[in-house]
Amino acid sequence: MSSIEPMNGTEWQEGVAYARGRFVAPAEAVIPIDDRAHQFGDGIYEVIRVIGGRPLLMDYHMERFETSANAIKLRLDRSMEELRQLVLEAISRSGYSDAQVYFQLSRGLARREHAFPNIPSHLSLTVRKMDDSAFDGVREHGLSMTWTDDIRWKLCYIKSLNLLPNVMAKQAALDAGYQDAILVRDGFVTECTSSNIAIVKGQTVYTHPANERVLHGVTRRFALKYLRDTGVEVREEMFTMEELMQADEVFTMSTITEFAPIVKVNGFDVGNKTKSKGSMLRQLQSAYQLQIKHI
Ligand code: PDD
Repeated sequence: MSSIEPMNGTEWQEGVAYARGRFVAPAEAVIPIDDRAHQFGDGIYEVIRVIGGRPLLMDYHMERFETSANAIKLRLDRSMEELRQLVLEAISRSGYSDAQVYFQLSRGLARREHAFPNIPSHLSLTVRKMDDSAFDGVREHGLSMTWTDDIRWKLCYIKSLNLLPNVMAKQAALDAGYQDAILVRDGFVTECTSSNIAIVKGQTVYTHPANERVLHGVTRRFALKYLRDTGVEVREEMFTMEELMQADEVFTMSTITEFAPIVKVNGFDVGNKTKSKGSMLRQLQSAYQLQIKHI
């Protein structure tokens, strides 16, 4: 009988895990084959960044988690406050200062049948150490991207476990020598494989409207609030690749990389003001750092 090799190295065994109602070592967090997350991708998830032992933008994450659950008629089986306490307990058990919390909720463990079973949902969670400085280079120097057709379904605001189009687009970008892909649907830029995207023209920031075509990112939400609070004009409007190529600034927004400049698309320079001192991107990065210190 051949054994299945775990992921690279043993890092995956580190950290804290929670599954089937209790905290366990990650290696023990075995999920039964009949979990609907396995068989149908029937569930939702969140990724929260932890800095200095504190979760960032947790209210936004919790709100989105509840929205996603409701959108797919998934039972939460616990109050949002209980869930919040569980996440905080997991962070505290990990003892990590800088980490990522991943949690997902599946429709539960049931014999495989398409119809929804009337059973409790299943929450699983991990806390993994994160070397936040690993992303400093990207935040400073930026990303070289390509673009591709956005072939995802029509409910991208749901943070669903179904990420096949995203992982395929990411891998195709890497295989072609780029760092990530910008997704384009019906001629308009939607987002990237795991981040939202904005451009700046003059003093105005443009990003795709928060509708069913994009994930409503918490980092995007932070950015829009900050920019509007400081009097910057933000237009939640669609834009084309041509407009992106000619924009003054182009940047991504996501929990893990925070705000990162996009400096090239298919080898062409873009957003030549993005990295300059005082750019919208640099203002957002500073505001975010300040927020990190004050939560
Ligand atoms: N991804 N768009 C997509 C498709 C994403 O997967 C993500 C985040 C974002 C940014 O959202 P937020 O600011 O809430 O992180 C936008 C997470 C981090 C992931 O799947 O790992």
